[in-house]
Amino acid sequence: MALVPEGVETLVQQGFDVVVDPGAGSAAGIGDDSYRGAGATVAPACEAEIVVSVRDLPSSGPDSGQAGGAPSVFVGLFDPLWMPQRAQRHAAEGTTAFSLDLVPRITRAQTMDVLSSMGTIAGYESVLLAASRLPQMFPLMMTAAGTLAPARVLVLGAGVAGLQAIATSRRLGAVVEGYDVRPAAVEQIRSMGARAVELDLTEPGAGSAGTEDAGGYARAQSDDVADRQQELLAPYVAASDVVITTAAIPGRASPLLLTAAMVDAMGPGSVVIDLASERGGNCAVSESDTEVDRSGVTVLAPTDLVSRCARHASQMFSRNLVAFLGHLAPGGDVEVRADDEIVAAMLVARDGDVVNPGVAAALGGSAAPHEAAEG
Ligand code: NAI
Repeated sequence: MALVPEGVETLVQQGFDVVVDPGAGSAAGIGDDSYRGAGATVAPACEAEIVVSVRDLPSSGPDSGQAGGAPSVFVGLFDPLWMPQRAQRHAAEGTTAFSLDLVPRITRAQTMDVLSSMGTIAGYESVLLAASRLPQMFPLMMTAAGTLAPARVLVLGAGVAGLQAIATSRRLGAVVEGYDVRPAAVEQIRSMGARAVELDLTEPGAGSAGTEDAGGYARAQSDDVADRQQELLAPYVAASDVVITTAAIPGRASPLLLTAAMVDAMGPGSVVIDLASERGGNCAVSESDTEVDRSGVTVLAPTDLVSRCARHASQMFSRNLVAFLGHLAPGGDVEVRADDEIVAAMLVARDGDVVNPGVAAALGGSAAPHEAAEG
């Protein structure tokens, strides 16, 4: 749920009128009365100036909750770099659309960083899922029935979700290794109590481009480097009971880190959790929301991990959203300041055009020139 009652209360105090779709909070354990108590109106449709949603809106039709056609402003997570046609639809409907996927990773925007919030939850939940499916416990146990070896967990991709997966596995007592293509991640992996796997990827033909872009995200690797990465990771994978993969590159297909042969080399009963399946996956044999048994290895690629923790996910999302709305519409009045770094980064559609250069490039065109120049 995009807003919890605490968030509604804050917005109402700031001067917003808030309308909540009936039953919208039920899966997170929040009833309509709690929203009413926080100052919201509960109604199925209205003519809102701003519509906020966890994911994309279905359309400007009757399911959108919008009585008078498309909203003037929409804020949600709709991955426009990967699904640019969504931004195109908002532009065609005349909506000013902001993508929470594009919150810049700068200190000033940290309170609005929905991706970090959702990554934290996905990382945590991935470990609980792996622990529940592994036919052994995570911690070392010395019992009267003998010594039980701890589980060995390997986490590939040490961004927000990966670091949380490392921390959670450590808390459960596993022996944990972490790997990321960004050298900066080595210290972060160690600070979570895991061993950092460091690979020398400098093969002839590997090129000298850095592994990290200006925004702190990983760059896509060349085919040669990707092959070498798989080759060097193979022994670590084979020695692990659990492999959790979280590697992603904004707007690109996720890198393939685990080949079928690498999964085959794991021991029977081992578990792979692929968190990257919405953009193709990090594992060659994973299938979204389907349990795959590959040579006795359980391979899972759930896309609903965050929803399994709906209460805290909603609480975090709501805090981030309220911070963004306070920035976009101080006192309840929307003011699109295209020269503001945060607004410019997140604005994808305005005045009928797709205005974000990255999203426009993904559509095969370029951003509307006057808007691109502004932001
Ligand atoms: P993400 O979800 O886009 O990717 C997850 C991880 O996969 C990243 O750490 C990335 O380096 C890694 N990865 C990509 N290709 C890989 C490959 N071939 N092999 C191994 N690993 C690979 O990343 P996330 O979690 O959204 O964070 C991205 C960056 O933003 C990180 O540097 C993070 O520290 C930084 N950040 C900064 C914040 C701030 O406010 N300053 C807040 C949150 C994140």
